[in-house]
Amino acid sequence: MLPTPAAEPLPDGPRRLIIDCDPGIDDAVALLLALASPQLEILGITTVAGNVSLETTSTNARCICELASHPEVQIFPGCPRPLVRPSVIAAQVHGENGLGGVRLAPPQMPLQPIHGVDFLRDTLRCAPAPVTLASLGPLTNLATALIQAPQIAERLELIVIMGGAVGAGNVTAAAEFNFYADPHAAQVVLHTAADYGVPVVVIPLDVTHGAIATPARRQALRDLNAPAGQNPIGQTVAAMLENYGLREQQARGFTGPPLHDPCVIAYLLQPDLFETEAIAASIEIQSPLTQGRLVVDRSGELGLLGRIHLATAIDADGFYRLLLEHLGRYGGEPPTP
Ligand code: BDR
Ligand code: CA
Repeated sequence: MLPTPAAEPLPDGPRRLIIDCDPGIDDAVALLLALASPQLEILGITTVAGNVSLETTSTNARCICELASHPEVQIFPGCPRPLVRPSVIAAQVHGENGLGGVRLAPPQMPLQPIHGVDFLRDTLRCAPAPVTLASLGPLTNLATALIQAPQIAERLELIVIMGGAVGAGNVTAAAEFNFYADPHAAQVVLHTAADYGVPVVVIPLDVTHGAIATPARRQALRDLNAPAGQNPIGQTVAAMLENYGLREQQARGFTGPPLHDPCVIAYLLQPDLFETEAIAASIEIQSPLTQGRLVVDRSGELGLLGRIHLATAIDADGFYRLLLEHLGRYGGEPPTP
């Protein structure tokens, strides 16, 4: 039996968190959720090429922090391409600007003049207290930091990853986007974490597909704080979701887009929204047909090197309650009943 990940909020203050991301519409929503919570102390945001280019994910991360009135958050641009495989992006899902065509004010806050991998490595190396990592995109930055200095894993309290599919993938029949986009990095992270005993929670597509932004939930976002207050963030999020992954929605019969990445932040804020199962796992890196596949072994006896807590179910209504309550904090006062 594997130990349960330390997912409860720390008793003596907020959880110290680094968010590694590729915004991306659902990354943007995840950032807004995290930035609204006093339970999280965001030490920095690292960006990576994924849904769109590194330049665009880095611009979007800044736009979102400014939208949330958090221009003090430090953003570190990371790797512009995967470790081994050629780059793959998802502009057809997230739009050319990565935010579903929604135009936000050009960011004024600077990007930090330090590479995301250097920030990760040096922050973990010098961390006075354990750090949690939320991974919302391809794992290139964290894998590179762990290759450079594997012992930094000892400072990681918990890694929560959106990635993988146990059932059908969303890029190929076998693979989910984040693990497909950099399968070698995903393998490095899972295996190094297992070597150092770092708890890893993986939230796969099978679970995030339960977090559908239905028409009613998108309307609730538009209506946040109305009529007494205004919440431009709820309206901006609803606008970004309008055309998010329409082709996938149609193909799968969804009534709206799944909010993959916010599940990672929701797990940190309220882990009891999820069920998890401790299993052995690895990532297929070679086969052209199944590259990026999350391979799991429930018996734990078949030689897979990774050890993960695989999310297997989500309380979707609870998840949307949490999201709406947090995004509601950006607007005016809710109406008194
Ligand atoms: C994952 O891929 C990206 O397109 C999303 O931002 C999410 O991180 C879902 O497969
Ligand atoms: Ca993402």
